[in-house]
Amino acid sequence: MRYDDTSGSESSMTESASKDPLVLFMPSGKRGRFPVGTPVLEAARKLGVYVESVCGGRATCGRCQVEVQEGNFAKHKIVSSNDHISARGAKEERYDRVRGLPEGRRLSCSAEILGDLVIDVPQDTVINAQVVRKAASDRVIERNAAVQLCYVEVDEPDMHKPLGDLDRLKVMLEKDWGWKDLLIAPHLIPQVQGILRKGNWGVTAAIHRDMDSSRPFIVGLWPDLKNEMYGIACDIGSTTIAMHLVSLLSGRIVGSTGTSNPQIRFGEDLMSRVSYVMMNPDGREAMTIAVREAINGLIGKVCEENGVDRTDILDMVFVANPIMHHLFLGIDPTELGQAPFALAVSGALQYWAHEIDINVNRGARVYLLPCIAGHVGADAAGATLSEGPYRQDKMMLLVDVGTNAEIILGNRSRVVAASSPTGPAFEGAEISSGQRAAPGAIERVRIDPVTLEPKFRVIGVEKWSDEEGFEEEAAAVGVTGICGSAIIEVVAEMYLSGIISEDGVVDGAMAQKSPRIIPNGRTFSYLLRGDGEQRITVTQNDVRAIQLAKAALYAGIKLLMEKQGVDRVDTIRFAGAFGSFIDPKYAMVLGLIPDCDLNEVKAVGNAAGTGALMALLNRTHRREIEGMVKKIEKIETALEPHFQQLFIDAMALPNKVDPFPELARIVALPEKKVASNDGGEDGGRRRRRPR
Ligand code: FES
Repeated sequence: MRYDDTSGSESSMTESASKDPLVLFMPSGKRGRFPVGTPVLEAARKLGVYVESVCGGRATCGRCQVEVQEGNFAKHKIVSSNDHISARGAKEERYDRVRGLPEGRRLSCSAEILGDLVIDVPQDTVINAQVVRKAASDRVIERNAAVQLCYVEVDEPDMHKPLGDLDRLKVMLEKDWGWKDLLIAPHLIPQVQGILRKGNWGVTAAIHRDMDSSRPFIVGLWPDLKNEMYGIACDIGSTTIAMHLVSLLSGRIVGSTGTSNPQIRFGEDLMSRVSYVMMNPDGREAMTIAVREAINGLIGKVCEENGVDRTDILDMVFVANPIMHHLFLGIDPTELGQAPFALAVSGALQYWAHEIDINVNRGARVYLLPCIAGHVGADAAGATLSEGPYRQDKMMLLVDVGTNAEIILGNRSRVVAASSPTGPAFEGAEISSGQRAAPGAIERVRIDPVTLEPKFRVIGVEKWSDEEGFEEEAAAVGVTGICGSAIIEVVAEMYLSGIISEDGVVDGAMAQKSPRIIPNGRTFSYLLRGDGEQRITVTQNDVRAIQLAKAALYAGIKLLMEKQGVDRVDTIRFAGAFGSFIDPKYAMVLGLIPDCDLNEVKAVGNAAGTGALMALLNRTHRREIEGMVKKIEKIETALEPHFQQLFIDAMALPNKVDPFPELARIVALPEKKVASNDGGEDGGRRRRRPR
């Protein structure tokens, strides 16, 4: 027998091997030659093609289904036909009668190779080896979970062979599945005899092995055939907790859910929660209990919604920022509130779920991704795993903007990371008319450069504000404030239409031209909406708050670019909810992010959660990110003397010193001018940008 794992040529083949049928597995493209009579499942295993099996080839679990592709595959020099695979035998017929086998499907443990074949390992959601992300990306996560279900039939006890029931179970798990040196979760030991007898000596064991070097553990035991188990991938954010329930056998996302982090009642932002711990003797414990209760509640909700028993959850992966990570694990986060921002532990962690009060199967394991630094947590590690700057040649900038922005910059040869204190302005806080994204919030803004009249869109209303029928539709939700995405747009549009200068000063001279420029003490505001009582304005202070936030972000990015020795980035990934809603063009006009081809700026949603999902479905991703985090160079922005100058330069729109040639290709940026805030005639003469 001979096989290779590429679609390359059949080289140096022995004569007998060259006569063996050639089998190609799709979509992996792995192929090899196998003697006539080899079960398809065995061929897949030998090539390293992932095909699930729980029953160990007894044709009872149905997890090993494949399909034969018929036809002449000239590129691969294979003529594949259903005649080249054994006919359905008694075992498959029985399975079909009992459970039903869809047309064209075969049980690969029973079907034998008779000739050349192209075998499709189905990618549907029920029986597959890979999962397609729910996001727009077509990336697949190859499956290699840390937990595996293994059915065995154990010898009945024999007075002449006094081996214990558990020991005979271990013998069969080694004989049928190759598990050596098995350990068992202690809570199962008293249950072994009952489960074996209940299953009439047929039992399914859940075996957990995270690292190849670690001893495998029996973590679950069920009488008879157990054909499904689940995992949880969870991102504990300071504002929101997001969770996926995933079938560990098929890789299918069974359900997703989320809730706000109940720790908000102890403090809106991270630092106020650290302060709460410092001021209150029971503060840490109260917040630990709150987050664990919320997670248990979410598990209950997502299980109930999808008809899953929570005791069928066997593995869990969590990501979180450092403070959430510590509070979840019951670690005092005080050290993270002050320099040098020492983490209690930075490496990846493993727990039994019950040790941290998570109520799932008693044998379930919990894995936490490593933290990168005191301000760059396991969530940033998850986003890094998901987007993989280290897997490519392009210089990738990955930013996750919240009250703290995490910034990762790098490529295959080097990755650097930092965090920057952007504050809550991007989320609508600190903005006079700011609010969270909710019905009634303005989410899109355009300003006419000639008349300075705005038009906007409101969450929950289809029409733009200048379209007929808008007011009638808007009456249902009201127009209540400006959310984060619109704040970016309105300030950028104010700059593009000349209402503010590159230094961010609202130009009082414009008051001559438009009644929307209104005095506000010694400064001016822009009236976006309203007359009478309900007014939504953008004040000078609002613009300043956005400038401060964006300057902090950009200065952090620029510092990392300098560390990398580059003056441009090739591609930008915006992680997190904020990135999903902002228009990259406006983010660039404001100078949140450096100049880049806009086609290379992408929002990637909850990349941290995707990273958790990857680590849940494939344990090799855990090793990948553990190794990578050790290599990432952490930059502490507060310690860099140059940071202050970068920050000052970044206060200007888009930037005092950095050019934006890619942006200038598609947006006519205003010429530099000096703004006046005295409302006089001569303060703000400038050329209009063409539209
Ligand atoms: Fe279980 Fe084939 S391996 S049915």
